[in-house]
Amino acid sequence: MLYEDIETARAVVAARTSLMPRVGLILGSGLGSLADELADATVIPYAEIPGFFTSQVHGHRSELALGHLGGQPVAVMRGRFHFYEGHTMQQVTFPVRVMRALGCHTLIATNAAGGLRPDWQVGDIMRLNDQIFLPGMVGQHPLIGHNDERLGPRFPAMVGAFENELVPMARDTAASLGFTLREGVYCMLSGPHFESAAELRMLQRLGVDAVGMSTAPEIMVARHGGMRVLAFSLITNLALPDGAPANHEEVLEAGEAAKPRFGALLRGILERMTKADTA
Ligand code: HPA
Repeated sequence: MLYEDIETARAVVAARTSLMPRVGLILGSGLGSLADELADATVIPYAEIPGFFTSQVHGHRSELALGHLGGQPVAVMRGRFHFYEGHTMQQVTFPVRVMRALGCHTLIATNAAGGLRPDWQVGDIMRLNDQIFLPGMVGQHPLIGHNDERLGPRFPAMVGAFENELVPMARDTAASLGFTLREGVYCMLSGPHFESAAELRMLQRLGVDAVGMSTAPEIMVARHGGMRVLAFSLITNLALPDGAPANHEEVLEAGEAAKPRFGALLRGILERMTKADTA
């Protein structure tokens, strides 16, 4: 069933372009405009892809763009589906399955997140070096139910999920752009509320560096499918127990301000991948 649904969606996308993407990119809140920079782009509204949804969240467009970026053939999700919108975890992660079926062996995911480190600043970019998938740990998990071995193993392992050849490329790109890449643990909560002070204190004690409402299920499914993953949080606000309450406008504003730097980081990584491919 899932397998056939993936195949149906893959075929709809593949009928629109001969490009075979190798890297899937998910652009989170406010970061979608990088998709405008694709060369030879084919843009497909989510409404035309079976199993995809149109995002209702402000700051999220609802298009899949296929083209070249940094010399790599990519599939770019301009906007994602969130669990808090009422989608199931299977629905949230379906596009990752489709990107994998289209040929993507790598997933680069981005999100907006609250920073739990008082010494960090709005606008910092954090590479996820691990994740806590809190909804998944309590039963809201995209892999619950029948496991189709064609898609991946019953029991995927998550230790080491974020370690691969792309990490030095990310660090190197950030250094060449003149900024320090933060690295830390991302925790996904279902949302849609911004956390209470007690919840933020709890997360700090758990060793969480950034908190958000996405990404972890997509990473989970990408790893299930054997994809290499790289993920980044843009710190759009400091989520500190004694700080000011967060709001969606500041999240979008910080995304807007960081766009050029975030875009340059992603492009630089893709360029390095291209160089490594041809070296
Ligand atoms: N909490 C949860 N999700 C978020 C935040 C936050 O502070 N900022 C951006 N996304």
